Amino acid sequence: MPRILSGIKPTGKLHIGNYFGMMRPAIDWQDKGEALYFIADYHALTTLRDPKLLKEYSRGIALDFLACGLDPAKATLFKQSDVPQVCELTWILSTLTPMPMLENAHAYKAHIMRGITPNVGLFAYPVLMAIDILIYDSDIVPVGRDQKQHVEITRDLAVKFNQTFGDTFKLPTPSILPDVETIPGLDGQKMSKSYDNTIELFLEEKPLRKKIMGIVTDSTPIEASKDPTNSAIVELYRLFASPSDVVQMESDFRAGGVGYGDFKKRLFEAIWNYFGPMRQRRAEIQADPNYVDQVLARGAERANELANATLSRVRQAVGLS
Ligand code: TRP
Repeated sequence: MPRILSGIKPTGKLHIGNYFGMMRPAIDWQDKGEALYFIADYHALTTLRDPKLLKEYSRGIALDFLACGLDPAKATLFKQSDVPQVCELTWILSTLTPMPMLENAHAYKAHIMRGITPNVGLFAYPVLMAIDILIYDSDIVPVGRDQKQHVEITRDLAVKFNQTFGDTFKLPTPSILPDVETIPGLDGQKMSKSYDNTIELFLEEKPLRKKIMGIVTDSTPIEASKDPTNSAIVELYRLFASPSDVVQMESDFRAGGVGYGDFKKRLFEAIWNYFGPMRQRRAEIQADPNYVDQVLARGAERANELANATLSRVRQAVGLS
């Protein structure tokens, strides 16, 4: 059974783009192997300096994943910082990491280009991520396209370590998740935290309605025919409505006589209904104050078991044991 591993950085609330791009595929993987998913809170520290928010986002991610169908009986969910062994291994691996390799990593380059002084943690981000992967002997790493380079760096570093100290790390394979370029945000650009155009998964009814009503549209009058081929409303609706409802909306766009406000109301209903069962599950989980903690504690136990085995292998290999 392949071991599948992925991580998500707790730097915000999960949104619809995350759901289709990452959460749903990750949840599907739980039936195809031993899945391990962690909340990358050490990584989040490279940009987030608010302890209250870090805790809130981390917990929120755990809760959302469980609500959306992650089954702790099948998959292991844990916090990165519950396995501090990754820090020791990151140090060890960093002593073999060529500086130019990290200087070429695109997250680092993007910071430099934006004129932001990168911290050492951000610079070393790919080494920590490599260890996240290698420490659990992961076979498959489902990631978005933007993270592919990091998995390649992971392989390169593992090869380098193995050549230097003998066979120690297993080489992982990236599995690139479907592109979510096609999921538009409120302004029609790709939905992304960095564009501030997201629709969060578990908004209350009122704020959700307000967000949807705020989707940017042109000023075509109610009576006039509208173009459904380039509309964020239609593209989002497609994700949540039945095919026949989508066809109906498209033809109502073309026919004219229905305003964008009405289409947005249909979209709201579709999103609200789609997440209904998950919202209910989320409320149930929240009603038990210990549930999430217990899941994370059990996850940490399993992750520690695997991590300790790798750590002692590495200590032995380099002469620290
Ligand atoms: N860097 C990833 C991101 O920003 C998160 C992450 C950290 C990760 N460690 C990982 C993903 C290990 C996959 C495997 O989204």
